[in-house]
Amino acid sequence: MKRIFSGVQPTGNLHLGNYLGAIRNWVRLQDEFEDCLFCVVDLHAITVWQEPKDLVANTREVAAAMIAAGIDPERNVIFNQSQVSAHAELAWIFNCVARLGWLDRMTQFKEKAGKDKERASVGLYAYPNLMAADILAYKGTHVPVGEDQKQHLELVRDIAQKFNHDYGQEFFPQVEPLIFGTATRVMSLKDGSSKMSKSDSADNSRINMTDNIDGIARKIKKAKTDPEPLPSEAQGLDGRPEAANLVGIYAALADTDVEAVLGEFGGQGFGAFKPALADLAVAKLSPVQDEMRRLMDDAEHVDTVLHAGAEKANDLATMILQEVQDLVGFLRP
Ligand code: TYM
Repeated sequence: MKRIFSGVQPTGNLHLGNYLGAIRNWVRLQDEFEDCLFCVVDLHAITVWQEPKDLVANTREVAAAMIAAGIDPERNVIFNQSQVSAHAELAWIFNCVARLGWLDRMTQFKEKAGKDKERASVGLYAYPNLMAADILAYKGTHVPVGEDQKQHLELVRDIAQKFNHDYGQEFFPQVEPLIFGTATRVMSLKDGSSKMSKSDSADNSRINMTDNIDGIARKIKKAKTDPEPLPSEAQGLDGRPEAANLVGIYAALADTDVEAVLGEFGGQGFGAFKPALADLAVAKLSPVQDEMRRLMDDAEHVDTVLHAGAEKANDLATMILQEVQDLVGFLRP
């Protein structure tokens, strides 16, 4: 059986990278896979401090973005993680399966904890175990994500394999990452060598899903570039990370590839390319953003979707968790 699972953290500043690298791909996958779960991962969010009021609003914002982008809540399961306790319960079991050495290798922990890792939360360190629990609580088989989640998904495979080995049964599937499209790693608009990120303190580094038309156009206009005109072939973008990023974003928004974009804009400078990119971004994002705003004003509707999703998710996860408990040797009524 094939089953999709993926998630987004409700940590605020949902951005173009999240949309192009993940959410937009999910919209397409819902037609290919009958069984899809999309989760607002609030347990993950609190691995770094979240103001409680903001967390509530950001949870609704991410759910609104998923629905506005075109994920159908009738056909798919949209829910927030904390409402299905199997995630936390299975994560504990995986805390006891995963090895410290495996987590020590996680580059995202090193990046997020920074120099002062003694002050990072234990949750931030154990984060990938919870991610494994998210997917495997449903025996998820396919996980559509951006490039930055690749290492975490390798760990999920290691955890599944060790669990199956330790308990002597091919119980959990080996998950397949689905990393596709031209925007698997959208970079910062201010620095082509760092990823566009929710936590970047510079708001100009990213296009937020809540930015208005003027904001989008202004940020693209101000984006860092170089003085050269665009090349006619993709090879010419080597060593030009900012140019490569903007061309990649254009290709993703236009649903085409980098070669096609360079076929059209090769030889032209950024003075011509940036306004074209801004127009395209506004044309493609505005309808999603308008619907997102409408949904964010209708918290009741969003909450109803999340609640119904949590019930469906809970039914699925409870059955699997009970089998896990039997395998592990937990006595239950
Ligand atoms: P998060 O919330 O950081 O990001 C959500 C999704 O957006 C993708 N993404 C990007 N794609 C392209 N360019 C970027 N600059 C960019 N930034 C983010 C991410 O790859 C992700 O697909 N650990 C996950 C959430 C998670 C999860 C899971 C995902 C928790 N449990 C289980 C899949 C399955 C995270 O922090 O995503």
